[in-house]
Amino acid sequence: MQIQENVPLAPLTTLGVGGNARYLVEVRSEPEAREALSLASERNLPLFILGGGSNVVIGDRGFAGLVLKMSIRGLEEEWEKGDRLFWVGAGEPWDPFVARTVAEGFAGLVLLSGIPGTVGGTPIQNVGAYGAEVATSIRAVRAIDRRDGCIVEIPAAACSFGYRRSIFNTEKNGRYLLLAVCYSLSKEENPELGYPDLRSFFSRRGGPPSLPEIREEVLRIRRAKAMVVLADEEDSRSAGSFFKNPVLEPAAWVELQRRAEKLGLVPPSYPADDGQRKVPAAWLLENSGFPKGLHRGSVGISRRHALAIVNRGGATAGEIVAFMEEIKRTVEATFAIRLQPEPVFVGFDTP
Ligand code: EPU
Repeated sequence: MQIQENVPLAPLTTLGVGGNARYLVEVRSEPEAREALSLASERNLPLFILGGGSNVVIGDRGFAGLVLKMSIRGLEEEWEKGDRLFWVGAGEPWDPFVARTVAEGFAGLVLLSGIPGTVGGTPIQNVGAYGAEVATSIRAVRAIDRRDGCIVEIPAAACSFGYRRSIFNTEKNGRYLLLAVCYSLSKEENPELGYPDLRSFFSRRGGPPSLPEIREEVLRIRRAKAMVVLADEEDSRSAGSFFKNPVLEPAAWVELQRRAEKLGLVPPSYPADDGQRKVPAAWLLENSGFPKGLHRGSVGISRRHALAIVNRGGATAGEIVAFMEEIKRTVEATFAIRLQPEPVFVGFDTP
């Protein structure tokens, strides 16, 4: 395992901003993962675990500790009654794994096609799209418990999955180093095509679509929104959705409708748990002065989707954060809603 020093982190992320890692090790096996953890504790270095870099904002001063680049690969399949268990290394790229399950006739992950990043990131923020969430397919997570160095298998039921949340990004944040994820898929499953974009396409087409057709359509929609990372696509130089879709208590929902009505608007919304409403943050941005394509120098809003802040070339993390703060202030003043950022912030004084 080679310890590199002063490694630029921007090229390892899709947003492409930020400074250097003081140290960086690329970890390709479980023994190397243990070694990296020992190194961090011996030298008393803060640790940051980097996967695909598609959901992080690195600060301009970089990270004054050890970045562990998770590159454990590998995939093992096991039969379990009618189900198939896929044990996948945390460093495996996500979408090729999804493509493989689709080719083998499993529907469970097809709606999560085209999402950038690595397998290890998926349980942390319970990756979701088009009405599907990875939590539905996760059986267990294999990890090193950093408190005692033991390898543990955490069943899905103990992960407390919710909208863009799990124990790994909330109460147990930082405690586990994820090594592998076990997905349980069944041939009996059918994808739920209730999401408006998908429903309209498949109802026009007539007849039930095949899994490869569903995957193609999801990829087409994501590409149209620049939510597939492509080297020549400026609007995909982002961290995906920059804010979570707010989930509003009934009183906040009433207040939003009141304020929207004054502007002659009707906010879109979806039912959420316990009588709450989930509102698309993209709509809040568009209707408080941040339309697609708006820019401030080298930062801006994607021309294809209002929820992505893009680095138009040469942006700094400071510029990204200043733009984020401007958006948060304006949306709060317009709609009385405090947006929460969705990516992970690394190397900032306050998150
Ligand atoms: N909308 C706008 N303007 C836009 C885009 C969307 O007003 O430019 C409004 C429309 O009303 C639209 C609604 O927002 O109907 C929903 O938009 P979209 O279907 O694009 O989804 P989203 O809610 O903005 C979420 C996830 C995405 C995921 C998509 C697809 C979050 C924070 N984001 O976005 O996840 O791909 O649904 O299911 O929940 C990510 O987390 O990084 C991410 C890309």
